[in-house]
Amino acid sequence: MFNKKPAYRVAVVGATGAVGAEMIAVLEERKFPVETLLPLASARSAGETVVFQDQDITIEELTKDSFAGIDIALFSAGAEVSRKYAPIAAKAGAVVIDNSSAWRMDKEVPLVVPEVNPHDLEHHGNIIANPNCSTIQMVVALKPLHDRVRIKRIVVTTFQAVSGTGKEAMDELMDECRDLLSFRAAEPKVYPYQIAFNCLPHIDDFLPSGYTKEEMKMVNETRKIMGDASIQVTATTVRVPVYVGHSEAVNIETEQKLTANEARALLSTAPGVILYDDPEHKIYPMPLDVAGKDDVYVGRIREDESIPNGLNLWVVADNLRKGAATNAVQIAELLVR
Ligand SMILES: NC(=O)c1ccc[n+]([C@@H]2O[C@H](COP(=O)([O-])OP(=O)(O)OC[C@H]3O[C@@H](n4cnc5c(N)ncnc54)[C@H](OP(=O)(O)O)[C@@H]3O)[C@@H](O)[C@H]2O)c1
Repeated sequence: MFNKKPAYRVAVVGATGAVGAEMIAVLEERKFPVETLLPLASARSAGETVVFQDQDITIEELTKDSFAGIDIALFSAGAEVSRKYAPIAAKAGAVVIDNSSAWRMDKEVPLVVPEVNPHDLEHHGNIIANPNCSTIQMVVALKPLHDRVRIKRIVVTTFQAVSGTGKEAMDELMDECRDLLSFRAAEPKVYPYQIAFNCLPHIDDFLPSGYTKEEMKMVNETRKIMGDASIQVTATTVRVPVYVGHSEAVNIETEQKLTANEARALLSTAPGVILYDDPEHKIYPMPLDVAGKDDVYVGRIREDESIPNGLNLWVVADNLRKGAATNAVQIAELLVR
């Protein structure tokens, strides 16, 4: 189990990345008790610095010896790095909170969203998985409804920001906008097609079923986090030319009837949720407003008139924060509490 102390030695693996940089910011903002911070990245960035609590801290190259004396290691450097180094860190005594997809569906590894299944942290073997960004925001919004009327089926379409792919994709959107507005052709490198002024119904690899891996993460991770293998989920995930903030059109079918007003009442007091739903006054969540925030914003709640017990919701969250860094730091907070 976790050894409690007044302050902790924390490593951030992938410290130069879109998520890693946000993790360092969130640790500082939330005043996580950090004794020392060790930023780790590849040899490419070793020697550069990050700023933490007004100090320049030198980034070190990740090696198998990086974790001696580390209490908590926040991993955000991709699945390959996590598969190789998370067990090394765990064996060295660190508790790993891993942002990649490497360990999420491992039966021995808890997959945790603090507002939904904090109890799953009770048993772990020093590796804890942070879910996929799109899944996190959806389950935060749906758990209070599931607890009340049991969700039988979820149909979700996502509108996912380029920051979900990492810093190179953010640069690609900027470069393409600049080129196209200067009457030059876009040159996609990260994505298969131009993302500027476009939508790509293609996130992660395609499977033989025709679904993408991102879509199946939403199916499988939702069931694991909600602790209910019977929930039917079908997803279509779409990359859109937004920098930060994933949006989701979510349709649910429930066992018992829940009116839109009852759903609003439940969500108005739900942990981690901001109800932002007043269409008459043009109040609904949008990524531009939600970027930089830690909560999950829910609006456009309305009854699905095509079935007896159905609701539609529009769910928006900052994918780098609640979808990644904030959720990871919240898990660390639960461990040390
Ligand atoms: N972006 C999101 O919204 C989001 C949400 C949830 C989960 N995640 C997951 O978080 C992870 C990182 O995503 P990101 O968006 O932050 O990517 P990113 O911006 O591309 O950053 C990748 C980071 O990993 C480091 N890295 C790459 N190869 C490495 C190696 N061999 N050894 C050590 N460090 C290495 C990079 O360091 P260098 O600078 O040295 O290359 C960089 O710090 C991925 O697994 C992703 O699936 C992302």
